[in-house]
Amino acid sequence: MSEKERISFGSKLGVVAAAAGSAVGLGNIWRFPYELGQYGGGAFLVIYLLCVLLLGMPVMMSEFVIGRMGQANTAGSFRKLAPGKKWWIVGLMGVLASFLILGFYIVVAGWTLEYVVQAVGDRFSGRETATLAKVFADFSTDTFRPLLWMALFTILTGGVVYAGVKNGIEKSTKFLMPLLLLIIIALGVRSVTLPGGAEGLRFLFQPDFSKINSSVILSAMGQAFFSLSLGMGCMITYGSYISKKNNLQHTVVEVTVLDTLIAVLASIAIFPAVFSLGINPAQGPELVFITLPNVFAHMPGGYFWAILFFVLLAVAALTSTISLLEVIVAYVVEEFGFKRHRVIALVSVAVLFLGLLSSFSLGIWSDVKIFGMGFFTLFDNATSKILMPVGGLFIAVFVGWSLDKNAILNEMSNEGKIKVGYFRLFMFLVRYLAPIGIGLIIINQLGFGKLLSLE
Ligand code: TRP
Repeated sequence: MSEKERISFGSKLGVVAAAAGSAVGLGNIWRFPYELGQYGGGAFLVIYLLCVLLLGMPVMMSEFVIGRMGQANTAGSFRKLAPGKKWWIVGLMGVLASFLILGFYIVVAGWTLEYVVQAVGDRFSGRETATLAKVFADFSTDTFRPLLWMALFTILTGGVVYAGVKNGIEKSTKFLMPLLLLIIIALGVRSVTLPGGAEGLRFLFQPDFSKINSSVILSAMGQAFFSLSLGMGCMITYGSYISKKNNLQHTVVEVTVLDTLIAVLASIAIFPAVFSLGINPAQGPELVFITLPNVFAHMPGGYFWAILFFVLLAVAALTSTISLLEVIVAYVVEEFGFKRHRVIALVSVAVLFLGLLSSFSLGIWSDVKIFGMGFFTLFDNATSKILMPVGGLFIAVFVGWSLDKNAILNEMSNEGKIKVGYFRLFMFLVRYLAPIGIGLIIINQLGFGKLLSLE
């Protein structure tokens, strides 16, 4: 595809909706609350917010700059901006990360469809926590049912990606994102007003810093990258579709604020209910699937809220899987010249295979372990704790140290047309703080700290 022809998002709202659509997903509503629950509540939230501000925002801007300057897929953008150098490997690493993320993400995305059906069948009302927990456990460890939902979800994803950037991705996200925000606010109001809900708010907003250790910090950083879709070229790929007129600074701020807001609101919807109903906040991936059905069961009009919620959660997941698939598809199509529809079909099959491994690892293959983890946890940890932070580190170093400073300023200011208020701060963050910060957090967790007995 020549540069002039490169397709781009049609409007400013479309850009934000697509990028926020990628960012806002299961990461906010499913993963963030349970990570927060497992890592001690408020303290995790504080570290998370610091990671978003100091590492996430500069890396997101870096990805947009690389993509919009490079006008190509993630590996192609690096290759164009640094010809003859090895930076494209960072892009390739992102393609691999996309595969692995999709490999567990589509399993959970499939669960959301099952829960749409359960909601429609009015399966939550009148049920107690123990029953809801059992229903979830039976379903998620089942051999075939999750696979069917996962396959359906993958087909939906492929379909939207096939419809293309403008018609598929942009159109589907523009209306659904605001709707999701509304319903989460309504859920939050219900949850907070449950008897005993205040304790949940305390858990969420009263940080207990004695709970912080290196693994909490690594998890918060990983979650920040995961939630903002960073560190593996997703925003590079989307950046390449952003028009040269768009204000990148505004886009970064809008996407980050929206993403963080939804994660916090989801937690406000979940933790008061967790405490009110006597659920263990540290129970892990099943948290949302047990807590929220419980909230619906205790809510006027809960039947309709439940349907609406799970439909929108599925949609939020879809706008994220689309972006993940697009990273791989754009790479293969542009680098190898294959036909788009063929690539989508092949990649979907490969993803389904990984999804099958993940899903089975929760059920019939629960004793198959690699590095002590089942496939589901392995794919999740390998991406959020290693590939994404390392990718983010290289992306920051690339922008901070390899790209020409004036060229960056030029890109961020749309060739001098808009003011770039925080350019020096941005350069400081990508040159020093992000690489050193990410590096230290990873090294510390990998055992350096243990060697020096800094535990
Ligand atoms: N950010 C999405 C979520 O929170 C998931 C996601 C989409 C993602 N694209 C990504 C994560 C790229 C990492 C990298 O659910």
